[in-house]
Amino acid sequence: MDNYMQVFQGTAFSSKSPKEIHILKDYLFCIHADGVIAKIVSPEDSGYQPLLDHYQGKPNFHRLADGQYFLPGFIDLHVHAPQWAQSGTALDIPLYDWLNTYTFPLESKFSDLDFAKKIYDDVVSTLLANGTTTALYFATVHKEASLLLAEICAGKGQRGLVGKVVMDDPGQNPEFYRDADTHTALVDTEEFIVAVQELAKSTKQGVYPVVTPRFIPSCTDEALKGLGELAAKYDAYVQSHCSESDWAHGYVQDRFQKNDAFALNDFGLLRDKSVMAHCNFLDDHDADLFAETGTAIAHCPISNAYFANSVIPIAHLHSKNVEIGLGSDISGGFSPSLYDNIRQAVISSRMLEDGVNTSLPASERGVPGSRITIHEAFYLATAGGGESLSLPIGRIEENNAWDVQVIDTKLPSAKLPIFNEDENLDDVFQKIMYLVRPEHIREVWVQGKRVHSR
Ligand code: GUN
Ligand code: FE
Repeated sequence: MDNYMQVFQGTAFSSKSPKEIHILKDYLFCIHADGVIAKIVSPEDSGYQPLLDHYQGKPNFHRLADGQYFLPGFIDLHVHAPQWAQSGTALDIPLYDWLNTYTFPLESKFSDLDFAKKIYDDVVSTLLANGTTTALYFATVHKEASLLLAEICAGKGQRGLVGKVVMDDPGQNPEFYRDADTHTALVDTEEFIVAVQELAKSTKQGVYPVVTPRFIPSCTDEALKGLGELAAKYDAYVQSHCSESDWAHGYVQDRFQKNDAFALNDFGLLRDKSVMAHCNFLDDHDADLFAETGTAIAHCPISNAYFANSVIPIAHLHSKNVEIGLGSDISGGFSPSLYDNIRQAVISSRMLEDGVNTSLPASERGVPGSRITIHEAFYLATAGGGESLSLPIGRIEENNAWDVQVIDTKLPSAKLPIFNEDENLDDVFQKIMYLVRPEHIREVWVQGKRVHSR
């Protein structure tokens, strides 16, 4: 009998493809010492009963209670960790004003490490409690505070991918909040990459440095070029905002006479490990370039409803083989929950398909073929995120990390409306997607370690 670190018994939901889920009813999940799923055993398998007999009753055997289910941990592909301090506020003004009036003054305060620790401790714990096991973070321009965020992820057991933000152009960024100069921005980024790679060695789940030009408008050509070179030198992740709003899209057109995607690519910033947030104004050439370079989209449906004046055509981009995951975009998006973003992704896609302007005849209102299902939105939050990051996460299957949430549908204070003991499990899944709140998330595990329970 193999010696597993842990064995779990229960029913799990995981994406098979964007449109289909895999329901593993009453399976055994055997976890290796490195936190990876070594073996998944069906009750029909002849090895099932011997394994159960061997592990049942041991301290490393966990059986889910009635009404509890495993889901993959969520992967949030776009979070501004410092902006957690202003989540839910100032959402009624345009992006450009919001950045200058609220966001840059807040982010400038992260030069104070005590302040940074308070916010970063809270945002990492909050995301874990919402089922987010992996997060791709923007920190701030400050090297030390950005490293502190990576250390907090490492300490709390979250798989954090963290970027020190670069915004070096004195013509575009306020004096109180920008890199001292282009050279310093690049040196700080390189030192940050090296420090996080060193920190990663002492973690089981991994933490990763991310090359992070805030968006084209905040960076000089020299900085963008230097960041592309650093990404290649260290084979590092890259993140930025791409074609987000009318304003940002128009700015890049004026400066480079091309769309963000081609401009970023010219600087070596579209790579297999690149994740670009928003991407509302991508045309088909941009989408092909994303697919060719392996660049992924962080779809931020709540934020897009507020700042982007658009709905991104997910179904169309999937048909063009672009990798897509989901992002909360705290605090452009107000919610730390990817459940809320899953729901908004479906709602927004329905509004795009059906159209909302009733002064037009029904046949002329919407964009046919735009709607996505709740299963597709779940895919974005899980398997799509794993593919976007090229990491073995986001699915409950062999050789993936044991990154899971345990959902309790029978929580005494907030039972989900499941009245039939034999309810179809696909219906149970849909009820979980639409109705779960943080109190239903009883446990969260990352790389085989329990990192949250309630
Ligand atoms: N574009 C540049 N910076 C930001 C930011 O902080 N949030 C969003 N949503 N868009 C941006
Ligand atoms: Fe953002």
